[in-house]
Amino acid sequence: MAHRYTSDLTRDDVTPKQLYLNRRQIMMGGTALMGAGLGAGKARAEDAWDLTLTSYEDVTSYNNFYEFGTDKSDPARNAHMMTTDPWEIVIDGMVDNPGTYSLAEIVEGQTIEERIYRLRCVERWSMVIPWQGFEFADLLERVGVQEGARYVAFETLARPEEMPGLRVPIIDWPYKEGLRLDEAMHPLTILATGLYDEPMPNQNGAPIRLVVPWKYGYKSIKSIVRITLTDEQPPTAWNTYAPNEYGFYSNVNPNRSHPRWSQEFERRVGGGLFARNIETLMFNGYEEEVAHMYEGMDLIEFH
Ligand code: MTE
Repeated sequence: MAHRYTSDLTRDDVTPKQLYLNRRQIMMGGTALMGAGLGAGKARAEDAWDLTLTSYEDVTSYNNFYEFGTDKSDPARNAHMMTTDPWEIVIDGMVDNPGTYSLAEIVEGQTIEERIYRLRCVERWSMVIPWQGFEFADLLERVGVQEGARYVAFETLARPEEMPGLRVPIIDWPYKEGLRLDEAMHPLTILATGLYDEPMPNQNGAPIRLVVPWKYGYKSIKSIVRITLTDEQPPTAWNTYAPNEYGFYSNVNPNRSHPRWSQEFERRVGGGLFARNIETLMFNGYEEEVAHMYEGMDLIEFH
């Protein structure tokens, strides 16, 4: 598997070995991988760029998926109600091959690779997650983006009988997100179908979700059922809810505070009550890869 954008680190490099082995024992039903070399992990020591993996338990039990409730524990408790098979995605708008595609058709022919990415929520918590997925650009190339298209709009499933959170009109369901076309085509942008080598858990956005690691987590829309190519900036869930608080771009930016949360620092989930504040990095640490897309843009105004 490729490990691009993680300085070619493998999971062994970023996870303290003992933890990884414990996990393997759990996942493999007790078959220990002894003799696999118990060296200390090579996790980088710097606070800000730290790729120590967040545990599978934390990644799958501390979630935001408002369709299943607003508490962090609601998605893990309720998301099993969502039917993910069969699953179809409508791809429409300015594309050569619009249509309704089954999940199998979407994934067919894609090279599923592992991407170890940092996830930074605007609520100031962060995680490091080993996703399995493929570059969104590959799918866009297959469906053929027409000239003049400038944005991609996404929608999540909205099925009230399976999603108790839809009873509460917090946002204008279905959950919507959007990217500028160059952001969507960027090689860091993936559609993820799994994490920790497991199929995507429902609470994390099964069966397929977006992951855009240099933006606040809310851009990474879950359980996608519609992808539309358009020439206009599409409405997005949180920006519609409170434009002053949540911009369209939503690039992680320690210099632009959310009205309620300074974005200067963040805390890793799993650190417990006394987790230290760690510095937030511009573009969540992916500045080198993505800053060129925003050259000349005022990132405070276009937040
Ligand atoms: N997608 C949908 N459909 N509904 C949501 O409530 N929450 C977003 C994003 N995608 C959300 C969503 C937010 S705020 C974050 S931080 C991430 O999902 C959390 O992803 P995770 O639960 O897999 O960590």
